Amino acid sequence: MNTKLYKIDLNNIDAEKMQEAGDLIAAGELVGFPTETVYGLGGDGLRPDAAKKIYEAKGRPSDNPLIIHIAEVSDLDRVGKNVPEQARKLADAFWPGPLTMIVWKKDEVPFATTGGLNTVAVRMPNHPVALELIRRSGKLIAAPSANTSGRPSPTEASHVMGDLDGRIAMVLDGGPVGIGIESTIIDLTEPVPMILRPGYITPEMLSEVLGEEVIIDPGIIAADDTTKPKAPGMKYKHYAPKADMVIVDGEEAAVVEKINALTQEAHASGKKVAVVATEETKDRYTSDVVLNIGARQDEDSIARHMYKILRECDKLDVEVIFSESFKTPRIGQAIMNRLLKAAAHQVIHL
Ligand code: TXA
Ligand code: MG
Repeated sequence: MNTKLYKIDLNNIDAEKMQEAGDLIAAGELVGFPTETVYGLGGDGLRPDAAKKIYEAKGRPSDNPLIIHIAEVSDLDRVGKNVPEQARKLADAFWPGPLTMIVWKKDEVPFATTGGLNTVAVRMPNHPVALELIRRSGKLIAAPSANTSGRPSPTEASHVMGDLDGRIAMVLDGGPVGIGIESTIIDLTEPVPMILRPGYITPEMLSEVLGEEVIIDPGIIAADDTTKPKAPGMKYKHYAPKADMVIVDGEEAAVVEKINALTQEAHASGKKVAVVATEETKDRYTSDVVLNIGARQDEDSIARHMYKILRECDKLDVEVIFSESFKTPRIGQAIMNRLLKAAAHQVIHL
Protein backbone atom coordinates (compact mmCIF):
# COMPACT_ATOMS: atom_id res chain seq x y z
CA MET A 1 0.00 0.00 0.00
CA ASN A 2 1.23 3.49 -0.83
CA THR A 3 0.93 5.69 2.27
CA LYS A 4 0.02 9.29 1.40
CA LEU A 5 1.69 11.91 3.58
CA TYR A 6 -0.10 15.28 3.79
CA LYS A 7 1.37 18.26 5.60
CA ILE A 8 -1.41 20.25 7.28
CA ASP A 9 -0.91 23.90 8.17
CA LEU A 10 -2.56 24.32 11.57
CA ASN A 11 -3.30 27.99 10.88
CA ASN A 12 -4.97 27.24 7.57
CA ILE A 13 -6.35 23.71 7.59
CA ASP A 14 -6.80 22.42 4.05
CA ALA A 15 -10.46 21.37 3.68
CA GLU A 16 -9.87 19.19 0.64
CA LYS A 17 -7.07 17.14 2.19
CA MET A 18 -9.08 16.76 5.40
CA GLN A 19 -12.12 15.57 3.46
CA GLU A 20 -9.98 13.01 1.63
CA ALA A 21 -8.71 11.78 5.00
CA GLY A 22 -12.24 11.69 6.45
CA ASP A 23 -13.48 9.75 3.43
CA LEU A 24 -10.74 7.16 3.95
CA ILE A 25 -11.90 6.61 7.56
CA ALA A 26 -15.51 6.34 6.36
CA ALA A 27 -14.38 3.74 3.81
CA GLY A 28 -12.85 1.62 6.56
CA GLU A 29 -9.22 2.65 5.92
CA LEU A 30 -6.63 3.85 8.45
CA VAL A 31 -5.21 7.36 8.83
CA GLY A 32 -2.40 8.52 11.13
CA PHE A 33 -3.16 11.92 12.69
CA PRO A 34 -1.83 14.32 15.31
CA THR A 35 -3.46 14.86 18.70
CA GLU A 36 -2.19 17.06 21.52
CA THR A 37 -0.71 14.02 23.31
CA VAL A 38 0.81 11.71 20.67
CA TYR A 39 -0.04 10.75 17.07
CA GLY A 40 -2.98 8.36 16.73
CA LEU A 41 -3.75 5.62 14.20
CA GLY A 42 -7.40 6.16 13.36
CA GLY A 43 -10.10 3.89 11.97
CA ASP A 44 -13.91 3.76 12.18
CA GLY A 45 -14.58 3.02 15.86
CA LEU A 46 -17.82 1.15 15.24
CA ARG A 47 -16.51 -1.19 12.53
CA PRO A 48 -14.93 -4.48 13.61
CA ASP A 49 -12.98 -4.77 10.35
CA ALA A 50 -11.38 -1.36 10.95
CA ALA A 51 -10.34 -2.41 14.45
CA LYS A 52 -8.86 -5.58 12.98
CA LYS A 53 -6.85 -3.52 10.49
CA ILE A 54 -5.52 -1.35 13.34
CA TYR A 55 -4.32 -4.38 15.28
CA GLU A 56 -2.69 -5.79 12.17
CA ALA A 57 -0.95 -2.56 11.16
CA LYS A 58 0.49 -2.09 14.66
CA GLY A 59 1.22 -5.77 15.30
CA ARG A 60 -0.79 -5.29 18.49
CA PRO A 61 -2.43 -8.07 20.52
CA SER A 62 -6.18 -7.86 19.88
CA ASP A 63 -7.05 -8.11 23.59
CA ASN A 64 -5.66 -4.59 24.04
CA PRO A 65 -8.63 -2.21 23.64
CA LEU A 66 -8.71 1.02 21.62
CA ILE A 67 -9.76 4.51 22.68
CA ILE A 68 -12.73 6.00 20.80
CA HIS A 69 -12.12 9.64 19.88
CA ILE A 70 -15.12 11.99 19.64
CA ALA A 71 -15.53 15.59 18.48
CA GLU A 72 -18.71 16.49 20.42
CA VAL A 73 -19.19 15.87 24.14
CA SER A 74 -22.70 14.56 23.43
CA ASP A 75 -21.18 11.63 21.50
CA LEU A 76 -20.08 10.19 24.84
CA ASP A 77 -23.66 8.87 25.11
CA ARG A 78 -23.46 7.26 21.67
CA VAL A 79 -20.87 4.78 22.96
CA GLY A 80 -21.32 4.87 26.74
CA LYS A 81 -24.19 3.29 28.70
CA ASN A 82 -25.43 4.72 32.04
CA VAL A 83 -22.78 7.41 31.80
CA PRO A 84 -22.22 8.64 35.37
CA GLU A 85 -22.48 12.25 36.49
CA GLN A 86 -18.74 12.18 37.20
CA ALA A 87 -18.07 11.85 33.46
CA ARG A 88 -20.07 15.02 32.74
CA LYS A 89 -18.11 16.96 35.33
CA LEU A 90 -14.79 15.75 33.94
CA ALA A 91 -15.83 16.42 30.34
CA ASP A 92 -16.82 19.95 31.34
CA ALA A 93 -13.49 20.55 32.99
CA PHE A 94 -11.03 18.74 30.72
CA TRP A 95 -12.51 18.11 27.25
CA PRO A 96 -11.31 18.65 24.69
CA GLY A 97 -8.07 17.52 26.31
CA PRO A 98 -5.68 14.77 27.41
CA LEU A 99 -8.18 12.75 29.46
CA THR A 100 -9.65 9.35 28.56
CA MET A 101 -12.65 8.05 30.50
CA ILE A 102 -13.69 4.41 30.85
CA VAL A 103 -17.46 3.85 31.01
CA TRP A 104 -19.82 0.90 30.36
CA LYS A 105 -20.19 0.34 26.62
CA LYS A 106 -23.32 0.35 24.49
CA ASP A 107 -24.07 -2.63 22.25
CA GLU A 108 -23.24 -0.55 19.16
CA VAL A 109 -19.57 -0.58 20.14
CA PRO A 110 -18.05 -3.78 18.77
CA PHE A 111 -16.03 -6.04 21.06
CA ALA A 112 -13.33 -5.86 18.39
CA THR A 113 -12.79 -2.22 19.43
CA THR A 114 -12.89 -2.88 23.19
CA GLY A 115 -10.72 -5.97 23.12
CA GLY A 116 -13.68 -8.06 24.31
CA LEU A 117 -14.43 -5.83 27.33
CA ASN A 118 -17.89 -4.52 28.37
CA THR A 119 -16.38 -1.09 28.91
CA VAL A 120 -15.20 1.52 26.45
CA ALA A 121 -12.50 4.18 26.57
CA VAL A 122 -13.55 7.62 25.26
CA ARG A 123 -11.61 10.83 24.67
CA MET A 124 -12.21 14.18 22.99
CA PRO A 125 -8.78 15.32 21.78
CA ASN A 126 -7.71 18.95 21.85
CA HIS A 127 -6.19 19.24 18.40
CA PRO A 128 -7.72 21.01 15.39
CA VAL A 129 -6.64 18.30 12.91
CA ALA A 130 -7.94 15.45 15.08
CA LEU A 131 -11.30 17.19 15.61
CA GLU A 132 -11.60 18.07 11.92
CA LEU A 133 -10.80 14.49 10.90
CA ILE A 134 -13.50 13.09 13.18
CA ARG A 135 -16.08 15.61 11.92
CA ARG A 136 -15.26 15.12 8.24
CA SER A 137 -15.35 11.33 8.54
CA GLY A 138 -18.84 11.47 10.07
CA LYS A 139 -17.60 8.65 12.34
CA LEU A 140 -16.24 8.12 15.82
CA ILE A 141 -12.58 7.27 15.49
CA ALA A 142 -10.87 4.41 17.32
CA ALA A 143 -7.21 5.27 17.69
CA PRO A 144 -4.29 3.80 19.54
CA SER A 145 -0.94 5.55 19.46
CA ALA A 146 0.39 5.29 15.88
CA ASN A 147 3.52 3.26 16.64
CA THR A 148 4.39 -0.34 15.95
CA SER A 149 3.45 -2.27 19.09
CA GLY A 150 6.27 -2.10 21.65
CA ARG A 151 7.94 0.99 20.19
CA PRO A 152 7.82 4.48 21.73
CA SER A 153 4.66 6.47 20.93
CA PRO A 154 5.09 8.84 17.97
CA THR A 155 5.32 12.55 18.64
CA GLU A 156 6.04 13.56 15.02
CA ALA A 157 4.64 12.42 11.66
CA SER A 158 8.09 11.08 10.69
CA HIS A 159 7.86 8.60 13.60
CA VAL A 160 4.51 7.35 12.25
CA MET A 161 5.95 6.99 8.74
CA GLY A 162 9.01 5.22 10.16
CA ASP A 163 6.80 2.59 11.79
CA LEU A 164 3.78 2.32 9.48
CA ASP A 165 4.76 3.49 5.98
CA GLY A 166 3.20 1.10 3.46
CA ARG A 167 0.79 -0.35 6.03
CA ILE A 168 -1.84 2.43 6.23
CA ALA A 169 -3.60 4.69 3.73
CA MET A 170 -2.53 8.15 4.94
CA VAL A 171 -0.63 10.18 7.51
CA LEU A 172 -1.58 13.77 8.35
CA ASP A 173 1.47 15.75 9.43
CA GLY A 174 0.50 18.48 11.88
CA GLY A 175 4.03 19.00 13.20
CA PRO A 176 5.37 17.93 16.59
CA VAL A 177 2.76 17.37 19.32
CA GLY A 178 2.42 19.67 22.32
CA ILE A 179 2.30 17.28 25.29
CA GLY A 180 4.24 14.19 24.24
CA ILE A 181 2.83 11.57 26.61
CA GLU A 182 -0.46 9.72 26.24
CA SER A 183 -3.67 10.86 27.92
CA THR A 184 -4.50 10.18 31.55
CA ILE A 185 -6.98 7.28 31.74
CA ILE A 186 -9.62 7.32 34.48
CA ASP A 187 -11.93 4.37 35.05
CA LEU A 188 -15.43 5.44 36.13
CA THR A 189 -16.82 1.90 36.35
CA GLU A 190 -15.03 1.28 39.66
CA PRO A 191 -16.62 2.16 43.05
CA VAL A 192 -13.89 4.80 43.48
CA PRO A 193 -12.63 6.52 40.29
CA MET A 194 -9.32 4.90 39.43
CA ILE A 195 -6.44 6.13 37.29
CA LEU A 196 -5.32 3.35 34.98
CA ARG A 197 -2.61 5.40 33.26
CA PRO A 198 -1.04 8.62 34.63
CA GLY A 199 -0.75 11.56 32.25
CA TYR A 200 -0.82 15.32 31.94
CA ILE A 201 -4.05 15.57 33.97
CA THR A 202 -3.01 14.68 37.52
CA PRO A 203 -4.92 12.82 40.27
CA GLU A 204 -5.16 16.10 42.20
CA MET A 205 -6.80 17.89 39.25
CA LEU A 206 -9.34 15.07 38.83
CA SER A 207 -10.07 14.81 42.51
CA GLU A 208 -10.65 18.54 42.78
CA VAL A 209 -13.24 18.56 39.97
CA LEU A 210 -14.99 15.41 41.20
CA GLY A 211 -15.01 16.46 44.82
CA GLU A 212 -14.05 12.94 45.82
CA GLU A 213 -11.05 10.73 46.22
CA VAL A 214 -9.35 9.32 43.11
CA ILE A 215 -7.14 6.28 43.47
CA ILE A 216 -4.30 4.99 41.30
CA ASP A 217 -4.40 1.43 39.97
CA PRO A 218 -2.00 -0.48 42.24
CA GLY A 219 -1.00 -2.55 39.20
CA ILE A 220 0.80 0.36 37.55
CA ILE A 221 2.90 1.17 40.59
CA ALA A 222 4.11 -2.39 41.22
CA ALA A 223 7.59 -2.98 39.80
CA ASP A 224 7.00 -6.75 39.56
CA ASP A 225 4.30 -8.92 37.99
CA THR A 226 2.39 -9.70 41.19
CA THR A 227 -0.35 -7.08 40.62
CA LYS A 228 -1.76 -6.87 37.10
CA PRO A 229 -2.71 -3.42 35.83
CA LYS A 230 -6.38 -3.09 34.82
CA ALA A 231 -5.68 -1.39 31.48
CA PRO A 232 -4.58 -4.31 29.31
CA GLY A 233 -2.06 -2.12 27.48
CA MET A 234 -0.21 -1.27 30.67
CA LYS A 235 0.86 -4.87 31.21
CA TYR A 236 2.90 -5.08 28.04
CA LYS A 237 6.54 -4.15 27.95
CA HIS A 238 6.15 -0.87 26.22
CA TYR A 239 8.13 2.09 25.07
CA ALA A 240 11.25 0.00 24.95
CA PRO A 241 14.38 1.24 23.22
CA LYS A 242 16.65 -1.44 21.77
CA ALA A 243 19.46 -0.57 24.18
CA ASP A 244 19.72 -1.65 27.79
CA MET A 245 18.56 1.33 29.84
CA VAL A 246 19.42 2.22 33.43
CA ILE A 247 17.98 5.14 35.41
CA VAL A 248 20.16 6.79 38.06
CA ASP A 249 18.21 8.53 40.80
CA GLY A 250 19.57 10.87 43.49
CA GLU A 251 21.09 14.30 44.11
CA GLU A 252 22.18 16.04 40.92
CA ALA A 253 25.93 16.10 41.56
CA ALA A 254 25.99 12.45 42.68
CA VAL A 255 23.97 11.39 39.63
CA VAL A 256 26.36 13.11 37.22
CA GLU A 257 29.35 11.50 38.92
CA LYS A 258 27.76 8.03 38.93
CA ILE A 259 26.70 8.21 35.29
CA ASN A 260 30.17 9.34 34.25
CA ALA A 261 31.70 6.40 36.15
CA LEU A 262 29.24 3.94 34.56
CA THR A 263 29.95 5.45 31.13
CA GLN A 264 33.69 4.94 31.61
CA GLU A 265 33.15 1.29 32.55
CA ALA A 266 30.88 0.69 29.56
CA HIS A 267 33.32 2.41 27.21
CA ALA A 268 36.14 0.27 28.60
CA SER A 269 34.23 -2.84 27.56
CA GLY A 270 33.72 -1.36 24.09
CA LYS A 271 30.06 -0.41 24.41
CA LYS A 272 28.42 2.60 22.78
CA VAL A 273 26.68 4.74 25.42
CA ALA A 274 24.02 7.45 25.38
CA VAL A 275 23.30 9.66 28.37
CA VAL A 276 19.88 11.24 28.82
CA ALA A 277 20.53 14.58 30.48
CA THR A 278 18.81 17.92 31.01
CA GLU A 279 19.51 21.46 29.90
CA GLU A 280 20.95 22.01 33.37
CA THR A 281 23.40 19.06 33.36
CA LYS A 282 24.17 18.22 29.73
CA ASP A 283 27.64 19.82 29.66
CA ARG A 284 28.88 17.80 32.61
CA TYR A 285 28.80 14.36 31.02
CA THR A 286 31.75 12.60 29.41
CA SER A 287 29.85 10.27 27.05
CA ASP A 288 30.20 10.83 23.28
CA VAL A 289 26.44 10.88 23.01
CA VAL A 290 24.56 13.18 25.40
CA LEU A 291 20.88 13.73 24.65
CA ASN A 292 19.15 16.75 26.12
CA ILE A 293 15.60 15.75 27.09
CA GLY A 294 14.53 19.24 28.25
CA ALA A 295 14.82 21.60 31.18
CA ARG A 296 13.94 20.78 34.78
CA GLN A 297 12.78 24.40 34.98
CA ASP A 298 10.11 23.46 32.43
CA GLU A 299 8.88 19.93 33.17
CA ASP A 300 6.51 19.97 30.18
CA SER A 301 9.57 20.12 27.92
CA ILE A 302 10.80 16.82 29.39
CA ALA A 303 7.49 15.08 28.63
CA ARG A 304 7.45 16.56 25.13
CA HIS A 305 10.88 15.19 24.15
CA MET A 306 10.94 11.84 25.98
CA TYR A 307 9.75 9.52 23.20
CA LYS A 308 11.76 11.32 20.54
CA ILE A 309 14.91 10.80 22.62
CA LEU A 310 14.17 7.08 23.03
CA ARG A 311 13.74 6.79 19.25
CA GLU A 312 17.00 8.66 18.73
CA CYS A 313 18.81 6.09 20.88
CA ASP A 314 17.57 3.39 18.52
CA LYS A 315 18.75 5.35 15.49
CA LEU A 316 22.18 5.96 17.00
CA ASP A 317 22.49 2.23 17.70
CA VAL A 318 23.70 2.70 21.24
CA GLU A 319 23.98 -0.38 23.44
CA VAL A 320 23.54 1.22 26.85
CA ILE A 321 21.49 4.24 27.97
CA PHE A 322 22.08 5.95 31.31
CA SER A 323 19.29 8.36 32.18
CA GLU A 324 18.68 10.82 34.94
CA SER A 325 15.44 10.40 36.86
CA PHE A 326 12.63 12.94 36.36
CA LYS A 327 10.41 13.04 39.42
CA THR A 328 9.30 16.52 38.50
CA PRO A 329 6.59 18.14 40.67
CA ARG A 330 3.45 17.89 38.52
CA ILE A 331 3.74 15.30 35.77
CA GLY A 332 6.80 13.45 37.09
CA GLN A 333 4.60 10.46 37.90
CA ALA A 334 3.48 10.17 34.27
CA ILE A 335 6.98 10.66 32.91
CA MET A 336 8.52 8.09 35.27
CA ASN A 337 5.74 5.57 34.54
CA ARG A 338 6.91 5.51 30.90
CA LEU A 339 10.62 5.80 31.58
CA LEU A 340 10.65 2.98 34.15
CA LYS A 341 9.05 0.69 31.58
CA ALA A 342 11.59 1.72 28.97
CA ALA A 343 14.30 0.80 31.49
CA ALA A 344 12.56 -2.44 32.51
CA HIS A 345 12.65 -0.99 36.07
CA GLN A 346 16.45 -0.94 36.26
CA VAL A 347 17.12 1.91 38.69
CA ILE A 348 20.20 2.78 40.72
CA HIS A 349 19.20 4.76 43.82
CA LEU A 350 22.04 6.86 45.23
O1 TXA B 1 -3.26 10.09 24.32
C1 TXA B 1 -3.78 9.02 23.99
O2 TXA B 1 -4.58 8.43 24.73
C2 TXA B 1 -3.40 8.43 22.62
C3 TXA B 1 -3.95 9.37 21.55
C4 TXA B 1 -3.77 8.82 20.16
O3 TXA B 1 -5.28 9.68 21.82
N1 TXA B 1 -3.92 7.11 22.48
C5 TXA B 1 -3.40 6.03 23.12
O4 TXA B 1 -3.98 4.82 22.79
O5 TXA B 1 -2.48 6.13 23.93
P1 TXA B 1 -3.30 3.41 23.10
O6 TXA B 1 -4.15 2.42 22.42
O7 TXA B 1 -1.88 3.45 22.72
O8 TXA B 1 -3.47 3.23 24.63
C6 TXA B 1 -4.77 2.99 25.14
C7 TXA B 1 -4.68 2.40 26.52
C8 TXA B 1 -4.18 0.97 26.51
O9 TXA B 1 -3.32 0.78 27.63
C9 TXA B 1 -5.47 0.17 26.68
O10 TXA B 1 -5.25 -1.07 27.29
C10 TXA B 1 -6.30 1.10 27.56
O11 TXA B 1 -6.01 2.38 27.03
N2 TXA B 1 -7.76 0.88 27.41
C11 TXA B 1 -8.54 1.12 26.33
N3 TXA B 1 -9.80 0.75 26.55
C12 TXA B 1 -9.86 0.29 27.81
C13 TXA B 1 -10.90 -0.25 28.63
N4 TXA B 1 -12.15 -0.39 28.20
N5 TXA B 1 -10.58 -0.65 29.89
C14 TXA B 1 -9.32 -0.51 30.36
N6 TXA B 1 -8.28 -0.01 29.63
C15 TXA B 1 -8.54 0.37 28.37
MG1 MG C 1 0.13 3.07 22.77
